[in-house]
Amino acid sequence: MSFYGPKDKIELRLMFEHLAALQKLLKKSNVPCYFADNLIAVHRNMTFLYDEKFMSAFSAAKGKDDAEDEAKLWRLHTLAWCGHAALNAPGDFVECGVYKGLYSAMLTDYLDWGEIDRRFYLYDTFAGLPEDWSSTGERESVNVFYDWEGTYENVCQRFARFPNVDVIKGVVPDIFAERAPTKIALLHLDLNAAQAEIAALDVLASRLSHGAIVLMDDYGRREQLALAEALTGWWQEHDHHILELPTGQGMVTINAAKLQS
Ligand SMILES: C[S@@+](CC[C@H](N)C(=O)[O-])C[C@H]1O[C@@H](n2cnc3c(N)ncnc32)[C@H](O)[C@@H]1O
Repeated sequence: MSFYGPKDKIELRLMFEHLAALQKLLKKSNVPCYFADNLIAVHRNMTFLYDEKFMSAFSAAKGKDDAEDEAKLWRLHTLAWCGHAALNAPGDFVECGVYKGLYSAMLTDYLDWGEIDRRFYLYDTFAGLPEDWSSTGERESVNVFYDWEGTYENVCQRFARFPNVDVIKGVVPDIFAERAPTKIALLHLDLNAAQAEIAALDVLASRLSHGAIVLMDDYGRREQLALAEALTGWWQEHDHHILELPTGQGMVTINAAKLQS
């Protein structure tokens, strides 16, 4: 079971004990349930568990016995759905915030990306949140958890079998001036930094094709409230509304006429 926050450790421990007891009780009664990533779902079908293609892509992408990766199962299912649906719109795929490549490795495998005539642009500094495009609080809350030793090289290696995947080391949004697609079908934003995600949208919005999908990994996370407020405001200004998902993600489908006006 993987849960995080609120900050009071004693209450958190008590909460975990109660949740673990509840999970045990449900499992004993064979009630299907999901207890991970601050998400509890009880008596749901969770049909993605029986999607062999997805589960095999998930198993291949996650780190061995990595509880944090495993906890992201439902979020990964959402991305798999978005990626599949985005194939109905013209354009390339973009991920801002790659780290070790968990999400993009799952998606490229799930969609047999090598067979698809599109490019997948993967952007990251491979050095954490840059000062110019993040707040002190954002950097303090996430940078300490990253491990950069050899990460860029490993990610390049990880995607080497796909000639249509570009692993691009650079700062979002500055790097877009050098390399970025002109038409986008899927945009996955996972930078954990409000300023950078808004700046990415400012640059890339006019390139999102009609029917494209934008998935924002941290939109619903309480500890990222500033990010959620910034994204809500940006999309409202552009006459789109975010669907907040129980996984903590936010999703938008694009009406290109509204973004280009
Ligand atoms: C939560 S991690 C991404 C996780 C990833 N999607 C996965 O599959 O595991 C956030 C990443 O965003 C990157 N990042 C944050 N701000 C950035 C910026 N302005 N430009 C480029 N990369 C940035 C960090 O270096 C970090 O690797």
